Parts: sequence; structure tokens; C-alpha cells
Amino acid sequence: MDAVYLCRRALLHSLLVCLVCPFLALAADEPNLTKEQIKHFLLTAEIVNSRPSTKGITHTSRLTLSDGVITHDASFQPVNEHKTKMEFDDHLEINFVDSYKYNVAAYALAELIGMDDMLPVYVERKWKGNTGSLSWWLPVKMDEVERHKQKLSPPNLEAWNNQMYKIRLFDQLVSDSDPNLTNVLIGENWKLWRIDFTRAFRLNKDLKDPGDLVRCDRQLLEKLRALDGNVLAENTKRYLTKEEVDAVMSRRDKIVALFQKLIAEKGENEVLY
Ligand SMILES: Nc1ncnc2c1ncn2[C@@H]1O[C@H](COP(=O)(O)OP(=O)(O)OP(=O)(O)O)[C@@H](O)[C@H]1O
Ligand SMILES: [Mg+2]
Repeated sequence: MDAVYLCRRALLHSLLVCLVCPFLALAADEPNLTKEQIKHFLLTAEIVNSRPSTKGITHTSRLTLSDGVITHDASFQPVNEHKTKMEFDDHLEINFVDSYKYNVAAYALAELIGMDDMLPVYVERKWKGNTGSLSWWLPVKMDEVERHKQKLSPPNLEAWNNQMYKIRLFDQLVSDSDPNLTNVLIGENWKLWRIDFTRAFRLNKDLKDPGDLVRCDRQLLEKLRALDGNVLAENTKRYLTKEEVDAVMSRRDKIVALFQKLIAEKGENEVLY
């Protein structure tokens, strides 16, 4: 090997490192904490910096928190709006609610059905006199809007769809009236995250889009079957009314029944994964 060859190799290597580095840095920057430690951090770490979010319409803020050892960002969402009626371009909503409380409730529900690996940890916290939800900032590369814009396809379609089926189920369960694609975030290795539930937990007892449910993760269906309304009420007591919990439980029943029917028609292997 001559000197020029070695030199070129070193150059190529450092170029590769540079290209890969942002992702390495991103992964390495993610502290290895349990969900409980993340909750504690979000509830207690000092807020050392803030800036307005560049996306979304309800003026969230991106905060930087530090406990002296760990420094990490979080999204602060203080919206808490209640209106007897709200007019949209194509429909009217009676008893409209847009509330940060539903973010905290969605995370508590996700914990109960084993989907808390698809949502950021959300806690309730006060900042500058306003109470809101605070979520752990995720290592995100783009959102679904951006992926569509760039016409990118995930390399493993099956793995992608299996995540998407879970998100669709969750959307039906929490009855999100605003499940837009800026709220589906894509992380490392095409990992999907679902954020922003401030317009969820509507009172409908039937599913809004039952046709969205075609396949289901086995464990998720088991957890959903086992979901206890009293435990859900207890774990969300400061964030959901009894009516809202009852509506979740009714939709849970409908989802479970829908999959039972699909399994009877198509066979378990076609429906469950
Ligand atoms: N935990 C998080 N990690 C990474 N990015 C986040 C996180 N929370 C929010 N974001 C980014 O900030 C944007 C705005 O946040 P969010 O969706 O909570 O509020 P919003 O869209 O203004 O609310 P709404 O849709 O109710 O008006 C998101 O689309 C996303 O790009
Ligand atoms: Mg949003």
C-alpha cells in the first residue's frame, strides 16, 4: 500500500465518519433512562432555555432542561381551550376541547396497553405561570408530511406497516379528531412515534374509522382486552372525566369485537401478527 492510497483511505474514512456522525451523535446523546427516570427529569429538572416551536398551530415551546448531569429538550404544550361550539371549514364541533391534559392521559393509556414505546413520555408541568404538558424531545429525523414530500419509502414495509397498524388502533381508541401527519414522527431506523393528542378523547362510543383496523399486534390485542376501566380512571383521574373514560372503554369493546369478527372471517394468521 502506498502513502497516497493510505491517505485517500483515511480521507474516505473521515468523510464517512462525518456523514454518519450526526446520527451517532443523536443516538449517543439519548441518555439511557427508564420511563420513570424520564418522568422525574421532566418534572424536576431546571428549565434553562426556551424557544418557540417551528411547527404546529398552538404555539408550543421547545424547552431545554438540565438537572446538572443530563441536559435534554422537551416540548411544552399549554393549550387548554373549551368552547360550546367550534366551527371548522367542513363541520361543527359541539363542546370542543383542545387540551394539554389529553397528552398526559394518552401517555397513561399507552402505558396500560404497552404502547408507551410509541409516544414520548408526557407529564404535567408549570412554566412561566402556565400549566401544560411537557414531553421528552424525541430523536426525530422527519415527520410523515416530510416523508411524503420527499417520496421516501421505508426499506422494510412489513415492519413499517406493523407500527402503523398500532398507531391506527390507538387513534381509534383515543378518538383523535385531529390525527394529522405532522403528529407522526420518524426516528432512527424508521421507528415511528405518535405525538399530540390535545384534540383526542371525544365522547363518541362508536369507532370513527373502523375500516382503518385490518391487522393487530397480538400482545396489543391482549392488553386491550385486559384494560380495566377502573385502573384507567385512576391513572388518568386529573386528566379525563368519567364520561371520557367510559367512551374509551366503549371504543375498546368495539375494537376487540371488530378484531374477533375479522379473525372469525379470515383466520388468526391473516389478522394477528
Ligand atoms: N416530544 C417531541 N419530540 C420531537 N418533536 C416534537 C415533540 N413534540 C412536538 N414536537 C414537534 O413540534 C411540533 C408541534 O408540536 P405539537 O404537535 O405538540 O403541537 P401543535 O401541532 O401545535 O398542536 P396542534 O396540532 O394541537 O395545534 C410537532 O409537529 C413536532 O414536529
Ligand atoms: Mg401537532
